[in-house]
Amino acid sequence: DSSSHRVIDPIRNPESDFSMGAKKGSRFVAERRNREVVKSKMQETAELNGTAIGQVMGVSEGKKNAVTIDSAHADQAKVSETFSEIQAARRSLPAFKVRSELLQIIRDNQVVIVIGETGSGKTTQLAQFLREDGYCQEGHMIACTQPRRVAAMSVATRVALEMDVKLGREVGYSIRFEDKTSECTEIKFMTDGILLRETITSSTLEKYSCIIMDEAHERSLNTDILFGIFKNLLFARRDLKLIITSATMNAAKFSQFFGSAPMFTIPGRTFPVQTIFSRHPVSDYVESAIVQATKIHLSTPITSGDILIFMTGQEDIEATCEGLHEKLSEITARKKLESSNLSEVDDILILPIYSALPADIQGRIFVPAPNKRKVVVATNIAETSLTVDGIKYVIDCGYSKLKVYNPQIGLDSLQMVPISMASANQRSGRAGRTGPGVAYRLFTEDSFFDDMYVQTIPEIQRTNLSNTLLLLKYLGFSDLMSFPFVDPPPEQIMLSSLFELWTVGALDNFGNLTKLGRQMAAFPLQPALSKMLLNAAQSGCSEEVLTIVSMLSVPQIFYRPKERQEESDQARSRFFVPESDHLTLLNVYAQWKANNFSSAWCRRHFLQFKSLQRAKDVQSQLSMLMERKSVPIVSSGTDWDVIRKCVCSGYAHQAGRLSGLSKYAHLRNGMEMRIHPASALFGSGDLPSYVIYHEMLLTTNEYINMVTAVDPFWLMDYGLLFYNVSRRKEDEEDITLYAEDRRQPPKDSIDLEIERAVMKKEQV
Ligand code: CDP
Ligand code: MG
Repeated sequence: DSSSHRVIDPIRNPESDFSMGAKKGSRFVAERRNREVVKSKMQETAELNGTAIGQVMGVSEGKKNAVTIDSAHADQAKVSETFSEIQAARRSLPAFKVRSELLQIIRDNQVVIVIGETGSGKTTQLAQFLREDGYCQEGHMIACTQPRRVAAMSVATRVALEMDVKLGREVGYSIRFEDKTSECTEIKFMTDGILLRETITSSTLEKYSCIIMDEAHERSLNTDILFGIFKNLLFARRDLKLIITSATMNAAKFSQFFGSAPMFTIPGRTFPVQTIFSRHPVSDYVESAIVQATKIHLSTPITSGDILIFMTGQEDIEATCEGLHEKLSEITARKKLESSNLSEVDDILILPIYSALPADIQGRIFVPAPNKRKVVVATNIAETSLTVDGIKYVIDCGYSKLKVYNPQIGLDSLQMVPISMASANQRSGRAGRTGPGVAYRLFTEDSFFDDMYVQTIPEIQRTNLSNTLLLLKYLGFSDLMSFPFVDPPPEQIMLSSLFELWTVGALDNFGNLTKLGRQMAAFPLQPALSKMLLNAAQSGCSEEVLTIVSMLSVPQIFYRPKERQEESDQARSRFFVPESDHLTLLNVYAQWKANNFSSAWCRRHFLQFKSLQRAKDVQSQLSMLMERKSVPIVSSGTDWDVIRKCVCSGYAHQAGRLSGLSKYAHLRNGMEMRIHPASALFGSGDLPSYVIYHEMLLTTNEYINMVTAVDPFWLMDYGLLFYNVSRRKEDEEDITLYAEDRRQPPKDSIDLEIERAVMKKEQV
């Protein structure tokens, strides 16, 4: 099946309407990145200023009346939703009407696929039904997995509210580095990644009586892997119930995978949605969305319904929120001059939602806001994971950010790609939940048919699998080619991911886990980071590297409010360690620690207190893990070179050589890369000859972010597999590293398992 082996190709037809939009769209973001280097998260900003969110979205004092979220009002609304009202709302959900049939079919079968419209109550009700049916007896728990952290937290909060219990007690959640459960937890929401990790310590998942794999149609990498693991586990645990919930797409495939498991459809009612395509290609979808939302808002009564805008990520969401606010304030100001009647633009609530946004801010999208129109600006999380009631208008930019791995050059990147037809239809459908709706698509009908895939390519077929394969090896799946995949990943990705594990020393020449590989698998970190950490333990700087790794695991550290950009840039630059962003992070943390982890100190220095606090949590979690695994935590004191060397050990495969004005050439593939404007190295007149980087952002330019200067000889030490060195003369200072073309294992050290598997495949 060639289509399932295709790596995503975002812009297939460079002449098409859509790809023009794509280029402009990403250029827009690239420009925005340049201008607004460090964008802050709204909640921390709110916290820092002690103000309401309206103000945070770049709203200056004078203008804030136009769009302000009245938090006191919101709290009241929440409180006023009484327990009996909540129960009444529960009873009105489609899932409630089929409760007993659903429980019966689950009693009768080990695996059941539950299909239902978004908002029918699958996520919030299923676990509660099961608990009421006695599945939590004898200390057993019900697990419900979510592909996204945001969803895990918000749904747990909702279910705790519905059950009238304190979050973290009977109902809790667990996401990476954050566990809000306790001894008495009966229903546990968690990311699918956490459940996958739990199979390491408990291969039969003994404590669970039921596992609900929610949003399975999203085909997240971890969900797909868990499916393969369950295939065996279900034999070992005959008492375990597996419930897979899915939108209609993929449901039959899952049923087939689990031996024709029964499919149960929750009957639901949806209303017709009129879809309106853009007549011409859209050059800037943020601007178009703002215009469209303004039009809707000004031309329809606010009681007619709320607006949901789909954007690709935090940056364009914030840009849309700010732009919409600005536009409406302008109109308000103009109206103010003309008449005293302002009501029609005062009544709007602009609510962003994306994964990096803290849970309490996310929760606001669910709070009823009488006499106001909500405009929710969201990533594809609102496609199926979260349901906001009362949406009548959908505006769809037509793109999403996808992690895409290119096995030829061994690079993972976040790319802006057109969504699939299935996603576009799912997005439009959000307008027809409570009544007939309208969906405005910011792309042409031609591009819908010509440029969009029918279905989104599952993550397992488009991402780097090295982390996952390491885990599977650790779990004892030695022959990965025979692992029961729902859809197998392309062979090229398998080979290149295994190769990467081999190059970092996690696999030996026979494809078996090395001692280092076993140690790496124990850490919930990318191979590069766990290698760095383990290496640091031997080099005597694991305390420092632990801090760096923790700081790399949290969202934005620096805070850059729009009105005080210069001031905040200056504050930020005072922390810079000129040759390294990694050391800069270490420096920030060290100073924060020296100031008793103070939040006032953070405020003064334009740092995100919440992020630092989270880094501190991550650090303590990781240090417990290190202790358990007998990995020593040692400090190198004032020697920071050894730290840079350890950082280099993790990233030797992601290195560049200076090749022009603030430009680097990728050492392995020659790709041109620029230093990200947020980097400590940006704008330096004296750039180092060699650097390694933590991540690459692909827009119209390729930016590298989190950069550290390295000695080419270190690259030789750690990247011996790729690099060779040329010297113009013996013992001359001036050397040049060049890459050997070793993207496949050299012939004499072939991964036998791969070879075998490839042969097996060819025989079939
Ligand atoms: O999972 P599914 O899409 O079938 O529905 P759900 O997420 O269980 O949502 C059922 C109802 O609960 C919807 O009306 C949501 O608006 C509501 N809900 C909520 O009020 N707050 C949440 N955090 C999640 C859901
Ligand atoms: Mg759901």
